[in-house]
Amino acid sequence: MERTFVMIKPDGVQRSLVGEIISRFEKRGLRIDALKMMEVTEDTAGVHYAEHSGKDFYVSLLDYITSGPVVVMAVSGHSSVSVVRDMVGKTDPKKASPGTIRADFGMDISRNIVHASDSPESALRELNIFFRESDYSEYSKPGEKWLYP
Ligand SMILES: Nc1ncnc2c1ncn2[C@@H]1O[C@H](COP(=O)(O)OP(=O)(O)OP(=O)(O)O)[C@@H](O)[C@H]1O
Ligand SMILES: [Mg+2]
Repeated sequence: MERTFVMIKPDGVQRSLVGEIISRFEKRGLRIDALKMMEVTEDTAGVHYAEHSGKDFYVSLLDYITSGPVVVMAVSGHSSVSVVRDMVGKTDPKKASPGTIRADFGMDISRNIVHASDSPESALRELNIFFRESDYSEYSKPGEKWLYP
């Protein structure tokens, strides 16, 4: 089992896509291990997106991510990092494949609805920014033993 980090960005919350997005992960067979709505501070946004510091979209990216509440979650399952990235789709919704979250609900690279970790190392780093150990819940999904022998 692998755990990844997902954030429904402010536009996803404002457009009432929270349930739709969580539902896609649940129906795929992934498990939500931790979940909360919160506002991201400028400092936390800077730590989360540190790799983009200095890029021309960095300031507007931080403004975007701090512009309203987000929903953060830990999502687990086999190869969950790559499975969730595939479900999210390419960074630019105009180039994302139909059926992905970004393609189905967006057209604008600067309002692309959802974030997902791009590697297991990023997942660990990002989960540790937003969650502490006591935030995680343990449970089995029905049929999980069959799905994940
Ligand atoms: N050229 C751009 N113009 C405007 N915003 C951009 C651009 N490139 C990236 N961004 C914003 O910065 C975020 C981080 O970019 P990154 O290259 O990490 O893409 P990603 O990994 O697909 O997205 P995320 O990290 O949010 O999951 C993008 O999701 C998008 O919101
Ligand atoms: Mg990224």
